[in-house]
Amino acid sequence: ESSEQKQLIDLNEQAVKLYHHILMNTKIGQPALDYLHKRGMTDETIVTYQLGYAPSQRLVKPFFDQRQVDYQLLRKSGLFSEGQDGSLRDRFVDRVMYPIRNANGQTVGFSGRLLSTDSDMPKYLNSPETELFNKRKILFNLDFARPNIRSKQPALLFEGFMDVITAFQAGIKSGIASMGTSLTEQQIYDIQRITREVIVCYDGDAPGQKAIKRAIDAFKETNHQLDLKVVSIPDGMDPDEFIRNRGGDKFQALLKNAQSPIDFELNFLKKQSNLQSEDGQAAYIAAALKLVATVSSGISRDLYLNRLAEEFSIDKEVLKQQLAPMIRRTA
Ligand code: GTP
Ligand code: MN
Ligand code: MN
Ligand code: MN
Ligand code: MN
Repeated sequence: ESSEQKQLIDLNEQAVKLYHHILMNTKIGQPALDYLHKRGMTDETIVTYQLGYAPSQRLVKPFFDQRQVDYQLLRKSGLFSEGQDGSLRDRFVDRVMYPIRNANGQTVGFSGRLLSTDSDMPKYLNSPETELFNKRKILFNLDFARPNIRSKQPALLFEGFMDVITAFQAGIKSGIASMGTSLTEQQIYDIQRITREVIVCYDGDAPGQKAIKRAIDAFKETNHQLDLKVVSIPDGMDPDEFIRNRGGDKFQALLKNAQSPIDFELNFLKKQSNLQSEDGQAAYIAAALKLVATVSSGISRDLYLNRLAEEFSIDKEVLKQQLAPMIRRTA
């Protein structure tokens, strides 16, 4: 890593300390601290994740100016937005600050959350994409989770970093998250380097379910060697809400009952089908068979056929005949 990159990381890490100090020790940080406490976050967790607050008063630019930091470095740090005249202003204003660390534990950027989502501004604002901060390469919390994943806990893939943090606080410490983008090949590769077992724990709302489908597809595209499972969080909650409302033990129980991707996809398909109509049923069965055809174990395929035959009162032999050519095609 270049010395310029080291300097950019150093600026981000100085900003971590500044934002964290403002959150913990100042009056202007109090509303943000109250916000985090109301979300059930303990001071220990706030310290562990070095959360902070960027106040409305733009303090970061004067802080670095006092230390006579080079303008070009400041520009590239991602901490500022640049005016037409090249002047720099604090990028993050009135936001709770979540430092984003790379796999080596170095802070390469931030995500800042509004205290209230009443305004039209985006709920989360990330550092801009730079050579230092590349959202598509980051897996949030990988540095903290890696030793636990290596000691045989499945990697838990969450949608949001709030989910990761709340799980961590509840003692579930193998959580990671992409930064709001769909999963990239690079991220899947990075997961695969440390484990075979992954449980996708995305939000229980409709967008979360769609994101699970996309994640499964992304995994499929990579020829992965992973044992992939999927958790569906009930009642439209996300893991953060579920753990705070029902507790970590209930979440562990969900993990234990995680579904195979095929079961998830069959369910997902079913919810989108109109099973009242015969056309809808036929379309569902055809699509379901396509999925079953991708199952490598003949015994498992047979069990799925039993289920389909029973569910729709069709002759299993008919399903078998339909399935046979599909298997040859995918083999
Ligand atoms: P909370 O509302 O604080 O509980 O966050 P959440 O983690 O539940 O967020 P949500 O489920 O809405 O989104 C999941 C992830 O998508 C977040 O962790 C972010 O990484 C990303 N995301 C959500 N909203 C925004 C946004 O407005 N801008 C950007 N850039 N990313 C977002
Ligand atoms: Mn408080
Ligand atoms: Mn969501
Ligand atoms: Mn969420
Ligand atoms: Mn949430």
